[in-house]
Amino acid sequence: MLRTVVCVSGGGTNLQAIIDAVEAGRVTNVELVGVISNNKSAKALERAANHGIPGLCISPKDYEDREQFNEAFLEKLNAFAPDLIVLAGFLVKIPPAMVKEYGNRIINIHPSLIPSFCGVGYYGLKVHEKVLERGVKVTGATVHFVNDGMDEGPIIAQKAVCVEEGDTPEILQRRVMEQAEWILLPQAIDDFANNRIRVVDGKVIHK
Ligand code: GAR
Repeated sequence: MLRTVVCVSGGGTNLQAIIDAVEAGRVTNVELVGVISNNKSAKALERAANHGIPGLCISPKDYEDREQFNEAFLEKLNAFAPDLIVLAGFLVKIPPAMVKEYGNRIINIHPSLIPSFCGVGYYGLKVHEKVLERGVKVTGATVHFVNDGMDEGPIIAQKAVCVEEGDTPEILQRRVMEQAEWILLPQAIDDFANNRIRVVDGKVIHK
């Protein structure tokens, strides 16, 4: 069983999709051993508690500088002895030391088709605002491994979602979650946990 930690910042609907998929047996070989949030009022922590998953909060705001936060974050994560780390709407930059220690074992979900609408300043609802501003007709979601860049790691899976006339950022966000994120992320976790993906020359190969 792969010891899996999920990092969250807010609502935790992706966390819920993972929990449901594990409980339903759609994701196998995975044990959810902890949830880490940078926000103590995140609904995601409530979702974890409802399913008996230990949760904790660690926020950069409680540390003098980023370096101290990064050290403490890595320490708390290591205490779970994870095999896999899933960023499910986690809006804090992953410390370089963590990326180094858990190379190709950190997975992130991003609510657009990378390399569009990603990088600094593109997170959560803001992504969908920019998509509507630009007027693209197709958006979607991407699951990728985390490297030192921002949304730049090897891509595991992507799914397209249509933008429709009259969409608000909220409506579009919901459609991208329902049609892409909540399906793609558990699937990628299952693929990872069952050794169906590997990284070759910076690209993901599905076996
Ligand atoms: C999701 O749409 C996720 O893709 C996005 O934040 C939302 C979290 O929702 N992540 C990013 O923007 C990362 N750059 P949730 O808390 O309900 O899962």
